This record gives sequence, C-alpha cells and structure tokens, in this order.
Amino acid sequence: MRVRIRGFDIFKGHLDPVAQVALVADVRAVAAAAPMFSPQTPYGKPMSVRMTSAGSVGWYADRGGYRYAPMHPSGSAWPAIPASVLELWAQLTGLERHPDCCLINYYGEDARMGMHQDKDEADFSWPVLSVSLGDAGLFRIGNSTRGGKTESIWLESGDVVVMGGDARLTYHGVDRIRFGSSSLLPKGGRINLTCRVVS
Ligand code: SIN
Ligand code: FE2
Repeated sequence: MRVRIRGFDIFKGHLDPVAQVALVADVRAVAAAAPMFSPQTPYGKPMSVRMTSAGSVGWYADRGGYRYAPMHPSGSAWPAIPASVLELWAQLTGLERHPDCCLINYYGEDARMGMHQDKDEADFSWPVLSVSLGDAGLFRIGNSTRGGKTESIWLESGDVVVMGGDARLTYHGVDRIRFGSSSLLPKGGRINLTCRVVS
C-alpha cells in the first residue's frame, strides 16, 4: 500500500518478512566491516542513534560539522552498498544512478532524531530512500522551513519511504521508538537505512 504524505511516498509493508531478514543480514555484514559508532553533533552533544555507512562515502558528524567522509572513523574505507539495497533503490526510484551512501542508523529504546533536513548532499534533485527494519518508529513530517504543523506516521518493519521532488528538503524526524514492537531484531530496536546521492 502506498501512502503519500506531504510529498513523501510511503510504501507500507513493501518488504516481506523474508526480505527483511535478508536485509538485516546485509546490515550486519556492513556493521562487521564498519562498526557502528555514536556521532557527536557540532554542538558537542552525542546523538542518541548509533550509525555506520556503506558506499563510497559515509555520513559523519563531530565538532567539525555534518559531512560525508571518505573513511570510517577507524581509517578504513566504507564497505560497498549491499546489492539488495541497490535493487530496492532502482525499483522504487526508477533511477539508473546508484546512491553514493547508505547511512545505517540504529535506534535503541530511547533513541530519537530531531527534526532536520537532509541537506549535506550537492544536488537535491536526487531523492532519498529510507528503509525501516525492526521496531516501529514514529516518523514526523513537517514543512520546507522549520516549525509549523506536522503530521506523523508509524514506520514499521518493511516500510520504505521515498523523499524526493518538492518534498526533498521537507523537515522530518523520529520522535520515539515503540521498543519491542517487532521480533525482527533479537535485541530489539530499529534500523533505518537512508540511501543518498551525495555528489
Ligand atoms: C533520517 O532522517 O535520517 C532517518 C529517518 C528515519 O529514521 O526514519
Ligand atoms: Fe533525514
């Protein structure tokens, strides 16, 4: 089922349970090569999500700002974006161009993500594709400028969102996780993948 909210295309239940399990295995392989870390915001606050990336660049934050980095903090290159993720990207965006980065966020019980725009990329005509796995997350969709009325939707395991077109710079965030709502991840929590064309 596809739901459209403020220009975001939300494909509810797009991935069946078998595809979800396979994707988790792919995420684990990425995290084995590029371990998850807790980034610091430029303001010095630790982010509540843990993250890593796959692709030619990885999203990174510290006192120096938000940016894409060519290396994992360990100094190693980021692993390749799994073929399963590239397939999903091609299927739902219809693009031949591959994403440069697949950011992997892990939300534990108390993790959240404040309202923000994805704007560290060079060209906003490319969409961002987001995949949710594991526990449900309350996703809030705002406006093209900060503030104003918002709409929220629970993103559940297997849901995929395409944020593109006029909605590419729409503010969005995750208010909270419904911890333990899914049995996909044995220790609970939520994984979100976001694929981006960076440059
Ligand atoms: C993000 O905006 O980077 C993550 C969105 C989500 O976790 O659903
Ligand atoms: Fe985002």
